[in-house]
Amino acid sequence: MTTRPSGQPAPPGGVIRRLLALPAYLYRAHLGFLFGHRFLILVHEGRRTHLRRETPLEVMAYNPANQEAIVAAGWGWKTGWLHNVEAGLAREVWIAGTRYRPVWRRLEVDEAVAVLERYERHSGLPAVVVRTVLGRLLGWPYDGTPAARRRAAEQLPLLAFRPAAEESSGPWQGVRRVRRTHAQAKASYNRLSRGYDLFEEPFERGVRRRAIAMLHPLAGERVLEVGFGTGHDLVSLARAVAPGGRVWGLDLSEGMRRVAERRVRGAGVADRVELATGDALAMPYPDGAVDLVVMSFTLELFDTPEVPLVLAECARVLRPGGRIGVTSLARRDRPALWTRLYERGHDLLPALIDCRPIPLETALAEAGLQITQVVQGTLWGLPVDAVVADRP
Ligand SMILES: C[S@@+](CC[C@H](N)C(=O)[O-])C[C@H]1O[C@@H](n2cnc3c(N)ncnc32)[C@H](O)[C@@H]1O
Repeated sequence: MTTRPSGQPAPPGGVIRRLLALPAYLYRAHLGFLFGHRFLILVHEGRRTHLRRETPLEVMAYNPANQEAIVAAGWGWKTGWLHNVEAGLAREVWIAGTRYRPVWRRLEVDEAVAVLERYERHSGLPAVVVRTVLGRLLGWPYDGTPAARRRAAEQLPLLAFRPAAEESSGPWQGVRRVRRTHAQAKASYNRLSRGYDLFEEPFERGVRRRAIAMLHPLAGERVLEVGFGTGHDLVSLARAVAPGGRVWGLDLSEGMRRVAERRVRGAGVADRVELATGDALAMPYPDGAVDLVVMSFTLELFDTPEVPLVLAECARVLRPGGRIGVTSLARRDRPALWTRLYERGHDLLPALIDCRPIPLETALAEAGLQITQVVQGTLWGLPVDAVVADRP
């Protein structure tokens, strides 16, 4: 068991505190890879303030086999982040250019002793420096003897962080997380809405049309398009379900809605189309309201834990036996160099390169949808999947 001594020094303030924060600045500037696995940034939430904190921590040991990184709560039980982690408020770990949602464990004393011993031998710092710093943190002279090391391991809590299971293995491994908030996405698409057709539509048109053809919308069917953008598919869908059918559209951006409304009116199908501004995480439609759901280049804008929530909403508004067709940038086994470069671009410029490849087929299957068709294609050389599935 670790003990809670009272003589330990308090955490630093002023200049030292600012110096210690330097790695966080570099990580925020996407230069975290410079540190390799030597430092990580722990993103956590204050228990009382609920403010986001980014704390740089030295990694004392790293195990590439399970991606576990071990850090010490240097100020013992006075370490603020330790209490936040224990309260379940560890939000993210940034390490070596990647970011993940962590799970954590506290090391038992025997394991902590072994980690300390290895660290003293392999940290690359002279033993006298390591011992002096440890002594300063512990509040008593640390001489590197086995007895002192055990006492230190009992006093200093050592924690191991590793990626939560869904991101450390399987098809979701390596899939980029989405950092921006929905409010930021909304503001971004409001800005983009006027010029969107100039730089996106000509490239995406073919892929989207093929996806709609795969769904075979029929006369009289009720269709929902999620993330309708500038509304090209709304027009195709409204024509396909005539006579008697109806199309609903939901998009986060009022700017997109205005552009789409003009297009729908211009195409003479406004009597069959009803648009709403809202978030796909909470759709304003009753259960089982539609026969078809269509979503193109939108699901990959949601953060990984949100993807099943959006698909659950789609399944909810579909009637049993209804069909869903989703098109997105796709992440397959062993992504090619071009995909990896694109993902690097997403890491560096997430507001500009906001779509990131996801394992689409897996996402739909995990949401309990029955996949009936998958067509693999490319867009700008990147893999794109169109997947059609039934709601059981
Ligand atoms: C990349 S565009 C694709 C638009 C269109 N489907 C296409 O293929 O051209 C993504 C669209 O999803 C919308 N969107 C983004 N986040 C959303 C959310 N949380 N809920 C609903 N729509 C969202 C954006 O406003 C934008 O119109």
